[in-house]
Amino acid sequence: MIFARLATVVGAVAGVATVVAQSAFVNQTTCNGKQYTYQELVDYGAISGDASDEFGDTIGGIGSSLAIDRSIPVVLWALPDRGWNMEGTLNFQPRIYKLDILFTPEPSATVANQSGNNLFFTYKETVRFFGLDGTPCTGLGADPMGHLSFASFPDLSVATYTGDSFGNVGPGGRRVPVDAKGLALNPDGSFWVSDEHGPFSAAGLLIAAIRPVDAMIPMRNGTESFSADSPPFYDNKGAGDDVFPANNPTGRDNNHGFEGLTVTGGGNALYVLMQAALNQEGGTNKQTEWQTRLVEYDITVPSAPQYAREFVVPLPLYNDPTAKASKNPKVAAQPEIFHIQDGQFFVLARDSGAGHGQSSPLSVYRHIDVFDIASATDIKGSV
Ligand SMILES: *[C@@H]1O[C@H](CO)[C@@H](O)[C@H](O)[C@H]1NC(C)=O
Ligand SMILES: *[C@@H]1O[C@H](CO)[C@@H](O)[C@H](O)[C@H]1NC(C)=O
Ligand SMILES: *[C@@H]1O[C@H](CO)[C@@H](O)[C@H](O)[C@H]1NC(C)=O
Repeated sequence: MIFARLATVVGAVAGVATVVAQSAFVNQTTCNGKQYTYQELVDYGAISGDASDEFGDTIGGIGSSLAIDRSIPVVLWALPDRGWNMEGTLNFQPRIYKLDILFTPEPSATVANQSGNNLFFTYKETVRFFGLDGTPCTGLGADPMGHLSFASFPDLSVATYTGDSFGNVGPGGRRVPVDAKGLALNPDGSFWVSDEHGPFSAAGLLIAAIRPVDAMIPMRNGTESFSADSPPFYDNKGAGDDVFPANNPTGRDNNHGFEGLTVTGGGNALYVLMQAALNQEGGTNKQTEWQTRLVEYDITVPSAPQYAREFVVPLPLYNDPTAKASKNPKVAAQPEIFHIQDGQFFVLARDSGAGHGQSSPLSVYRHIDVFDIASATDIKGSV
């Protein structure tokens, strides 16, 4: 496994210009014979904090994953995670925003004279996600136990809510929870979403789902338990735990699912990367969660993904200046990957809990790193 680092990129959305004098680059790295150069930040832009979509919901954060539809005009697809969930999870219907982007690179900008705010977004439309029986999906956390069963699908996790799901009188309900983290577009307008679901049709209807390998399934008391211990807002603003034990001893760690999702250029292979290690492999501790799993699925037949290969990606380490020496180094968990070419990937490994409004404003590790699987060991089926 080759693991190299590319320099820090600052800003919400960054691009790398192609024509710049050699001397002008910010940083450079070589990964298994391929050289990557970070030349400059060419663009950045923002969406107004009070913007709302066609259903009247605030657009808020759009960054849990982005994908570019390269048809003309170019359209940006953006995943708003599972909606606002700072005080417990909400019965927000997970969705995608489509935005027109106006991008005017400034080739004359240099490292010393970086581009201004010249990336502009115009909201177009929203595609909301529905379970395969047409019931809306939800941003609420999964139940401690139980699942929904549909013919020819693997069992899907379920979120059961009471009342109207916002603390008022209502009939209650059961919905497929989607904590959407990764996004890739298919040529027919359908799209893949992780962490546990996908693909969805162009209209947002779930049309297939992948059950990950058994080692990844969260277990409590020897039983499948998809809860990520994320109680709803209506239950005391999400305070406390809604499952015991709060940390599942094995399988994906709470809220550390398939954050990275990417499809190869030819559309034949889908890769998903866990945010950090599984719990039986060190996942409950910031110092030990560095060996995370990358799974390859053959999607030549998109409706029938085949588990093809599996690898271990060692995540980078960093020293948190606010932590005791005994708590360092920490693992830079990852929220996004991108397949570049020939088995090489970008991964956005980063620290967390730093930035304006946090206890420490300084983020000490925020990179686009590169890794290569050409000579990595395939661990498919071995654990
Ligand atoms: C390039 O990035 C590496 C890794 O972060 C760093 O050690 C090095 O100092 C950087 N080089 C330059 C020229 O900034
Ligand atoms: C910075 O770059 C812009 C073009 O992007 C140019 O108009 C401006 O003159 C440059 N400023 C300096 C100080 O070089
Ligand atoms: C696991 O077992 C404990 C002790 O019996 C129980 O309190 C808890 O609810 C169980 N958790 C699940 C998810 O079944």
